[in-house]
Amino acid sequence: LKAIAEAPCKVIITGEHFVVHGGTALAAAVGRKVRVEVSEGRALSVASDRFVGAPPLDPIRAVLAEMKRRHGTESRLSVSIASEIPPGAGLGSSAATMVALASAVARFSGVELAVGGVVASAMAGERVLHGNPSGIDPNVCARGGVLTFTPGRDPSEVPLDGRRVFLVVQSGRRRSTRKLVSKVSEMKRRRPHLFAGLAAAATDVTSLAVERLRAGDMDALGRLMTYNHAVLSAAGASDSGLDGLVDLLISLGCPGAKLTGAGGGGSVLAVPPTGKEKSVLSGLSARGINAFRAELPVEGVHSWLS
Ligand code: PMV
Repeated sequence: LKAIAEAPCKVIITGEHFVVHGGTALAAAVGRKVRVEVSEGRALSVASDRFVGAPPLDPIRAVLAEMKRRHGTESRLSVSIASEIPPGAGLGSSAATMVALASAVARFSGVELAVGGVVASAMAGERVLHGNPSGIDPNVCARGGVLTFTPGRDPSEVPLDGRRVFLVVQSGRRRSTRKLVSKVSEMKRRRPHLFAGLAAAATDVTSLAVERLRAGDMDALGRLMTYNHAVLSAAGASDSGLDGLVDLLISLGCPGAKLTGAGGGGSVLAVPPTGKEKSVLSGLSARGINAFRAELPVEGVHSWLS
């Protein structure tokens, strides 16, 4: 008997970094998934595919310990992880892994776990990996759809009346969320007034972005995202490679683009020109840049026995 869980990855549409300092971010689940299989073992053993690389043992142990403490689940398990996205790409691969793990362990042990319980256990692993995460990543990967997130409050779902299309463009450079979060926090410590102005701008951008996304006004959303990129850049989260990708996407006809996630490498999120995603994707591929189309909304984590 084994339990299988799949969780989607995520993109942050606006508000990353400032959400760590109490701001509000807008984020969405995207269709690339992480799959975790759990079966009985004599001790904990973890295997993973080439995208996951060396299995992240400490965060996995932290999730299993949290599940055992809260729900009395088994932790001597054989765990296998397969991912459709590379780690360190700013797409929440670690959060998706922790969420799918908590969900698979609950399913394997016959524990009915609500989405809040999945997030709480996944957070134990995210803390080991990232230090002081806001919690946005596991919330999006577990709940799916589109949501706004403010630390200390329940996430709020953003209902959409139809599909919305984005492009996720990979810089190909891995980076550490922990390092980028501390770089931006250092800017806050050194320049508190400047940081407060940037944080206020990011939170305003998020509320405008929610309105534009709901209305389906993707051109205006794109312009807000480019503005958000400038704000993130001023806070120290961007670099010349990401700035160059944003410029390239705009020159290929995108209404707007920004870094997504922690920055310093990872991915850029773009709004494609209506009906012309294919021409942008081929322009990118001609330059050797990997990108994929992401259509929202997508479902959150789900699990089953096999
Ligand atoms: O997991 P990443 O690299 O996509 O970044 C998460 C977003 C941050 O706001 C930078 C960190 C956080 O915990 O919210």
